[in-house]
Amino acid sequence: MSYSDKVVDHYENPRNVGSMDNEAGEIGTGLVGAPACGDVMRLQIKVGADGIIEDAKFKTFGCGSAIASSSLVTEWVKGKTLDEASNIKNTDIAEELALPPVKIHCSVLAEDAIKAAIEDYKAKHKD
Ligand code: FES
Ligand code: FES
Repeated sequence: MSYSDKVVDHYENPRNVGSMDNEAGEIGTGLVGAPACGDVMRLQIKVGADGIIEDAKFKTFGCGSAIASSSLVTEWVKGKTLDEASNIKNTDIAEELALPPVKIHCSVLAEDAIKAAIEDYKAKHKD
């Protein structure tokens, strides 16, 4: 199997690896696993008072495509509102990275992770 240049780039130079402390309650965390392979992705968003995502971090225990997908998503969500970020589709990720069919579930993992992070943030800020 051959990977696209973008997958290799994000895999070798992943953006926004790490984690953030939720000291001021401005962080939403999504932790999801891929049933297809057992890989795990943890994605965090930092939301400003204006509702805009200021920062994002991830840690992924998984394959190169999962790491590339989470790296790409952390770049995409910055500067977006929660609604805009929740509209990111795994098909957009798969298309951008030119993922082969057997690696589509890796992009699903990234979509699930960002959605879970948004839900976590919303649950903490119900009103
Ligand atoms: Fe788990 Fe991709 S199958 S690393
Ligand atoms: Fe399982 Fe990529 S997340 S093979």
